[in-house]
Amino acid sequence: MPRDAIHIRKLTSDDLAAVTRIDEKITGQERKDLWAKRLDAYEGIRPPWACLVAEYDGRVVGFVFGWTSGWEFGIRGEVGWIDIIGVDPVYRGKGIGRALLEAFIENAQERRGIEQIFTLVDPDDAEINQFFASLGFTPGKMKHMQKRIVP
Ligand SMILES: CC(C)(COP(=O)(O)OP(=O)(O)OC[C@H]1O[C@@H](n2cnc3c(N)ncnc32)[C@H](O)[C@@H]1OP(=O)(O)O)[C@@H](O)C(=O)NCCC(=O)NCCS
Repeated sequence: MPRDAIHIRKLTSDDLAAVTRIDEKITGQERKDLWAKRLDAYEGIRPPWACLVAEYDGRVVGFVFGWTSGWEFGIRGEVGWIDIIGVDPVYRGKGIGRALLEAFIENAQERRGIEQIFTLVDPDDAEINQFFASLGFTPGKMKHMQKRIVP
């Protein structure tokens, strides 16, 4: 697929059905209510440039959801975060995930002067690890901590 066939644009509330459809293909779960709530919440608190969709042939085939932090988690300086990325399985391996991340990174740099992008990945998920590695991500120093609060 030529890269110019991929169009990256900001997410709008009209993308709910497409995002839900792609999420369902990835997770096997139909979660329209969850995504409706999520998109509503994102509208108020996330910079619009940080939530993007990829179109191919006028069809939404991927999305990335990101945000920025100021001093959260003890990190000094503003950092860009990627929390969800998803590409329709039919359209994978064509540069869509890369195009989404590159657009997010360009926005973060140009609009906020951000110098670092963080994400969390499941160490057992080879696909997502290799994807981020291909885009130049390397393991960072932050430590993930958790506590189980039910027996
Ligand atoms: C990971 C994912 C976003 C990749 O999307 P994609 O459009 O297929 O990725 P691209 O075609 O842009 O590939 C970009 C790079 O990642 C690498 N890559 C992508 N998928 C890969 C895989 N399964 N295994 C190894 N490398 C992979 C490619 O080789 C490519 O490297 P290159 O540009 O240096 O050649 C997609 O597979 C996906 O949505 N997976 C499910 C993600 C998920 O579980 N999300 C929820 C939690 S965040």
